[in-house]
Amino acid sequence: MRVLAIETSCDETSASIGENYKDKIRILSNVISSSISLYSKTGGIVPEIAAREQIKYIIPVIEKAILKVGKTEDVLSSLDAIAVTHGPGLIGSLLVGVETAKSLSFVFDKPLIPVNHLIGHIYANFIGEIPNFPAVALVVSGGHTDLVLMKNHGKIQWLGGTRDDACGEAFDKIGRLLNLPYPGGPYIEKNAKEGNHRRFNLPRPMLSSKDFDFSFSGLKTAVQREVSKLGKINEQDIKDLSASVQDAIFEVLIYKTISAAEKYKAKSILLGGGVASNDTLKNNFELEIRNLKLKIKLFVPTKSLCTDNAAMIASAAILAGSKYSWKNVEANPELYFE
Ligand code: KG4
Ligand code: ZN
Repeated sequence: MRVLAIETSCDETSASIGENYKDKIRILSNVISSSISLYSKTGGIVPEIAAREQIKYIIPVIEKAILKVGKTEDVLSSLDAIAVTHGPGLIGSLLVGVETAKSLSFVFDKPLIPVNHLIGHIYANFIGEIPNFPAVALVVSGGHTDLVLMKNHGKIQWLGGTRDDACGEAFDKIGRLLNLPYPGGPYIEKNAKEGNHRRFNLPRPMLSSKDFDFSFSGLKTAVQREVSKLGKINEQDIKDLSASVQDAIFEVLIYKTISAAEKYKAKSILLGGGVASNDTLKNNFELEIRNLKLKIKLFVPTKSLCTDNAAMIASAAILAGSKYSWKNVEANPELYFE
């Protein structure tokens, strides 16, 4: 099966052509265009601006993804379906992708495969080596922090999630407290590499709660308190606070994910979402799995497949999607794990 996939749930506009080759997913093209540089002044995404930019980008991005594979008519006629993220996300942004996908579906008479963005993040792990089930997946992005159990394709059970800020949102808010550019995550990672993670004793929220839930807003308040105590923060303070913040967030993520994996006898742990592109998170996970001598394989997508992209939507559509008529697909910003 070969699909053209479209992803426009937040500030990225992405199109990808993917197919299955034997039982593996092969990505033939994956074009991503971002409007993130426009938000350095506002310190966060402005939904109206994001959607307006996506209207400009969507056709050129799809055209580029097609031309990377071959001649437009040949590629379009080789498609078995059009896949699109239908939620969750920003309504204006989702509508750009969904309405474009519906038009293509109608004009070229191809079925439509709606894909849940969160499930897309998990399926970034199925590009390349296929993970074994049961798997425990941790989605850590700007809008979500969710832990789920995956018994098979389409068999997903939600185990827990954040009670307040999403993990990436915590990185972004703390980044702002440290005067770092938006989004804070990658800058905190960079600063943390030269920081002392033991200098600040930050809380590990909900580490000992018996559930699989998370909370990050208290950590932000704790960082705010440290910043106020310091008065004026210098470069070393920023580095040390960054390293301490990463340590606090990752300790909780790793502990809860591994506890869930042990409880449900998972063979694989799958990470997804922008925060999963952090090297320290991956290294600390591997270290803990080795220390505990667990027979669990950790999967982390390559960096460009951790943040929003259409290749992960192609992967989810091929392995776990269902075909619909364009008449029955709508954008749904509130969509969650079913
Ligand atoms: O998955 P994503 O691209 O978009 C959403 O669906 O939200 O995730 C974006 C989030 C941002 O909050 C960003 O700060 C965070 O991922 N992020 C990181 C890193 N790279 C991106 N957080 C920590 N370390 C990173 N290296
Ligand atoms: Zn995302």
